[in-house]
Amino acid sequence: MRTLSVAILFCLAAICAGQSHDLSIGQATYGDVIVYKADEIKYGFPFFIRTSIIEYPEPGQKNYAYIKAIYIKDNERDGSGGYPSISAGGIGQRFVKIKLKSQRGGGLNFTVTIYGRY
Ligand SMILES: *[C@@H]1O[C@H](CO)[C@@H](O)[C@H](O)[C@H]1NC(C)=O
Repeated sequence: MRTLSVAILFCLAAICAGQSHDLSIGQATYGDVIVYKADEIKYGFPFFIRTSIIEYPEPGQKNYAYIKAIYIKDNERDGSGGYPSISAGGIGQRFVKIKLKSQRGGGLNFTVTIYGRY
């Protein structure tokens, strides 16, 4: 029993460490188009946590597409990259606010792709 839980812990640690922190929600289907695609890169500073807010549509712009899918790809494959989260809006809505947060001392390197339908 004890050996088993240790083994499970090791597996979990292996899954959590050494992997990129991708976030994908929703599902793009036939007829959906890419309405937003951008790289967000920030270099790390020692002891600092870096954050980025990505808004779609960009402030001051109007958007008529419904969001169908959001793919946030962490380009740091070794797990040193930041963590993405959705702080407002999202699937089925016409806007989304995405927050990217680095690890302390780390940088950010994400590719954000949003699919929508008009
Ligand atoms: C970010 O990721 C891209 C794709 O893997 C890579 O080409 C680029 O060099 C990275 N940029 C930084 C600053 O790490």
